[in-house]
Amino acid sequence: MRIDRCNSVKGFRAMAKARLPEPVFHYIDGAADDEVTYLRNTEAYEQCDLVPNVLAGVENIDMSVTIMGQKLAMPLFCSPTALQRLFHHDGERAVARAAEKFGTMFGVSSLGTVSIEEIGAAICTPKMFQLYFHKDRGLTNSMIERCSAANFEVLALAVDTITGGNRERDLRTGFTSPPRLTLRSLASFALHPRWAFDYFTHKKFELPQLKDYVKEGSNVSISVGDYFTTMLDQSMGWRDAENVRKKWGRQFCLKGIMSRADAKRAVEIGATAIMVSNHGGRQLDGSRSPFDQLAEIVDAVGDRIDVICDGGIRRGTHVLKALSIGAKACSGGRFYLYALAAGGQAGVERALGNMRNEIERDMKLMGCRKVDELNRDNLRFR
Ligand SMILES: Cc1cc2nc3c(=O)[nH]c(=O)nc-3n(C[C@H](O)[C@H](O)[C@H](O)COP(=O)(O)O)c2cc1C
Repeated sequence: MRIDRCNSVKGFRAMAKARLPEPVFHYIDGAADDEVTYLRNTEAYEQCDLVPNVLAGVENIDMSVTIMGQKLAMPLFCSPTALQRLFHHDGERAVARAAEKFGTMFGVSSLGTVSIEEIGAAICTPKMFQLYFHKDRGLTNSMIERCSAANFEVLALAVDTITGGNRERDLRTGFTSPPRLTLRSLASFALHPRWAFDYFTHKKFELPQLKDYVKEGSNVSISVGDYFTTMLDQSMGWRDAENVRKKWGRQFCLKGIMSRADAKRAVEIGATAIMVSNHGGRQLDGSRSPFDQLAEIVDAVGDRIDVICDGGIRRGTHVLKALSIGAKACSGGRFYLYALAAGGQAGVERALGNMRNEIERDMKLMGCRKVDELNRDNLRFR
């Protein structure tokens, strides 16, 4: 299989599955409990249909959007995700460079594997940093200050990880970060020699946003669920979120808002955006999908804050459907993570290119020249 033959997220997923050791693949691909929410996140888009207009003169399409004051050349960006150098040795570097080529935004996680400083110095496209609110306030504050110094444009506070989700695939495979060297994991590495060679011959795996503060930042193997449960501050409340916003003082987003009431409070504390998200189904299984919940949120706050629909996106039409409901942009994780695993920067470029082509083709077929021409009239629920 070759990345230039991957025309869809499905193709990249198959390639990632073949290339990655089993525990690493299932860490990306898996979700919480029975994965009902994870499946629904994509299914929800398939339960409504687009109603195209024609004869609209669509030779020139403008798919750019402006969110949180950042102009993006396409209405889809790469959500922050953890541990990227486990998936490909270039990790965040590859994703950041690919996003830059496509003029879109990307996120770096608190559990990222390339430093805030390196990304800040190398990358010009808009950069989002995703903050976990640690019990250790020194650590939380240091990340805010480092992002500020490195000129990140957007800070996104994750609000849906107050405790670890029950990722049963990780329990089954024994996934930890960094990978624990057991007989079983060594066998899995042996079956994926190319991944193992790349992993062991490149710069040592570490979590540079954490390493000066916690031993989990470098060499203690821990599951991500356990990390959330032990390291993050479960007392976090609205006042804390507001204080983070004030300390940061730039574009501020809450990632993981699902209820109308919380969306309104996000406006009250001065957030400039919310990501409607259930963390890709990895936290509360049985929670509603972002697309199902989108109209309610847009109706409540869409005129006062940028509403981003995060998760489940596997096709350009999914993006068009979310924009038709009133999202200002969409974001996703797995659509680019499978591609990162499949082929590093070239893989992510191909994934973003596929999505951009789909969005462009679909906008033309919808008779739509600009993103803001999409509206609820273009959609019918079955
Ligand atoms: C492997 C993986 C790691 C993730 N790590 C983080 C993270 O560190 N911080 C965060 O806020 N969200 C994280 N997410 C959630 C994504 O930001 C995003 O919300 C989710 O992937 C959207 O669903 P999708 O994968 O269906 O697009 C992660 C998701 C995946 C798949």
